[in-house]
This record gives sequence, C-alpha cells and structure tokens, in this order.
Amino acid sequence: MTERCDLLITNVHAATMDPSIPGAYGAVEDAAVAVTGKKIVWIGPRRELPECTADLVIDGEGQWLTPGLIDCHTHMVYGGHRASEFARRLGGESYEEVARSGGGILSTVRATRAASAADLYRSAEPRLRALIAEGVTTVEVKSGYGLDLETELKQLRVARRLAQHHPVNILTTCLAAHALPPEYDGRADEYIDLVCEEILPAVAKEQLADAVDMFCENIAFSVEQCQKVILAAQKLDLPVKVHAEQLASTGATRMAARAGALSVEHIEYITDADVAAMAESGTAAVLLPGAFYTLKETRVPPIDKLRAAGVPMAISTDLNPGSCPIASLRLMMNMGCNLFGLTPAEALAGVTRSAARALGICCSRGVLRPGLRADMALWPMETPDQLAYEVGALKPAEMFFGGRHVTAG
Ligand code: NIG
Ligand code: FE
Repeated sequence: MTERCDLLITNVHAATMDPSIPGAYGAVEDAAVAVTGKKIVWIGPRRELPECTADLVIDGEGQWLTPGLIDCHTHMVYGGHRASEFARRLGGESYEEVARSGGGILSTVRATRAASAADLYRSAEPRLRALIAEGVTTVEVKSGYGLDLETELKQLRVARRLAQHHPVNILTTCLAAHALPPEYDGRADEYIDLVCEEILPAVAKEQLADAVDMFCENIAFSVEQCQKVILAAQKLDLPVKVHAEQLASTGATRMAARAGALSVEHIEYITDADVAAMAESGTAAVLLPGAFYTLKETRVPPIDKLRAAGVPMAISTDLNPGSCPIASLRLMMNMGCNLFGLTPAEALAGVTRSAARALGICCSRGVLRPGLRADMALWPMETPDQLAYEVGALKPAEMFFGGRHVTAG
C-alpha cells in the first residue's frame, strides 16, 4: 500500500466475509480499511496499519463494517401492480390458477407494455431506494415483463438508467423467456425462436444485458426450450441463470448445471442428483424465501444437502409484483434463517459473497479484501448476527459506494 490514500476508516470491526479469514464472518476486530479510488487497498487489524495519510478519515466508533449488500435476483422494473391477485390468492386460488386464467405474469406484461419508460422509471425508483436504504450497493434487475423486443429493451434501458442516478451497481438480465406472450398462444417453440434469433441478439448488440435468464417450469418453458435459449446466450457470450424447480421437479437444474449456469434460482424441488450436479459445476443456489412465503409454499429447498455439498447459497428478494412484492433484502435474510434454516452468518454470506458468485462478479465484489471494490456499509450493531435477526430499525449509519461516502437511501 502507498502511504497516501483517499479514505481511511478506523476503529471498526470488519465482517469481511472473506473465507480465507477464520470464523463465520471472516471478522477482523478493531480493524482499519484504506481505500484509493474505487478500491480497497488495505484491510486488517488497526495496530498493523502502515503509516499513512488520507484525504478523508472516518472514525467508525466501534461499529461493524460489511461488504455492501447484493440483491442478486429482482424483477423490480414493471408496470402496475397485482393487489387484486393477492386478494384472490388469499381467497384460496393458487398462483398457478391465477396465472393460467390470464393473470399472473401476463397481467404485468400488459401493464408494462402500456407504461412509458418514464413511468417504469418512476415506479421502480422507490423500490431501488428502499433496497439502498438498507445497505444494498448492487442489484440485479431482470426484464421479462415485455415478451416482445420493444418492451424488453425498454425495461432493460430503464434498469441501466436507474444505475446512472443512484449509488448502486445494476446488473441487468434478459428474461425474455419468462412466459408465453398471448400473441404466441399455442406457439411456444416459435416464441423461443423469436427470443433466440431476435430478442437476445438485439439486447446483446445494445449491451443491455449482463446475463440471460429463463423460467423453466410446467407453467412456462420446457427443459428443451430452455436449452435452446442457453445455446443462444452462449453464442452471444452471455452467462446464464435459470428459474428452476420452484413449483415441481423438472430436470431444469441438472440441465443448467451441465451448461455451466452461474446460478439456479428458487429450487424448492431439486433432488440429490441436482445438488451433486450444482456442486460439480460450481453453479450457485439462489434462495428466494420471500416468494416461498408469499405463495405459502411448504416445500423448503434442501439446505442441509446444499450446505454439505459446499454449494454457495445466495439469498435474494425476487422483488416482483406477483410472488414477492417485498423490497427488503434484510427481511429475506431473516426469512432465510426462520423459514429455510440458514444460520445468520450464512444469511449474510447469501447477500454478499454468495450473491456475488451468483452474478459472476466475485472477483470485484461481495467480500472486503484489497483489490475489490470499496462498496461497504457501516452498521450500528454489536454483532453481525443482528443483521439477520433485527428487521426494520437497524439501518446503515454510513455507506460507501466505490470508495465514495454516500448517504443511505
Ligand atoms: O421469480 N418465477 C417467475 N417469475 C417471478 C414471478 C413473477 C410474477 O409473478 O410476476 C418469480 O417468482
Ligand atoms: Fe424471479
């Protein structure tokens, strides 16, 4: 480290989440962190800090510093809302029944097609702000409520524009294979051809997506159809993610793992063979306890088996108007513990290190370590266990985005 840096934070405890540092949180007590430009250049026990000066010195007052949180699976750019479906489901109809009667994803597709880009931006902004206010510095945003070229592009452009105006990294994912649009009713293979031959190439040409996702489920697309989408994505050099086995066992996870997918998401119905395939390919699990909770599911993903196999387990909001209209990643950490049986340390890893894995960005984010981006949150708490335990009042005292001191929210 040079003896001059831009920012020096001292008198903090660091939950580095670095697996090479012993202990659940990779904790360094009484630490100091030095930042130059956008990156961490030094982190360690304060007494070992080399002699240095800094443009800005912050006394952390004994609080805990964590990596900025990462929400690795959202559908936060959409038109309208589905409060009436919420009422129908409370009255006993299932998510699948609502979807099959023309509601569900397709009702949001109608609203998203009808919305202007400015409308979409305006409605997404408070959702994004709510996440940032609770320590989030990276968010993934999927399309998938357009299901035609124009609207898919519109959603992705709005997501990119949100990043320009907020202290947050936004990674975008094209989820054109989310549902069958009504104009292709009975012609799913033709729609998949449109996705592969027109939508994905156009999205890639404008560099609007960092990854490609698909909904592989009985109410959406088959394993064979998703395989075609994966091949098309790979031809465009885009990594893939798969919504897999949320409602039934389909073989989607094994297919995704074989194709080297970054992640499979939901995965309530995966089998032992699926877990083994994920471990072998290094595919991350993205757990979405908010969708499980909202849809009153009863089948829990096989956490013990994923843990035993060493599969990285990310946690995310799935923020969307149907299965999880909840803009709180901290609540998801709590649900990950209470509903799925994660430990508080696994919950924090799930929204930092493992979420970075699920997005393919673990070389730059998700851990506090020299060389990585200085996206960080400083929390007024006595132990990092509080992050999964307390919901609502515990907010970051300070946030740092690419080394810049920013206000939370
Ligand atoms: O991740 N599973 C598919 N997509 C979303 C739900 C979308 C919706 O209901 O609008 C999900 O749960
Ligand atoms: Fe989703």
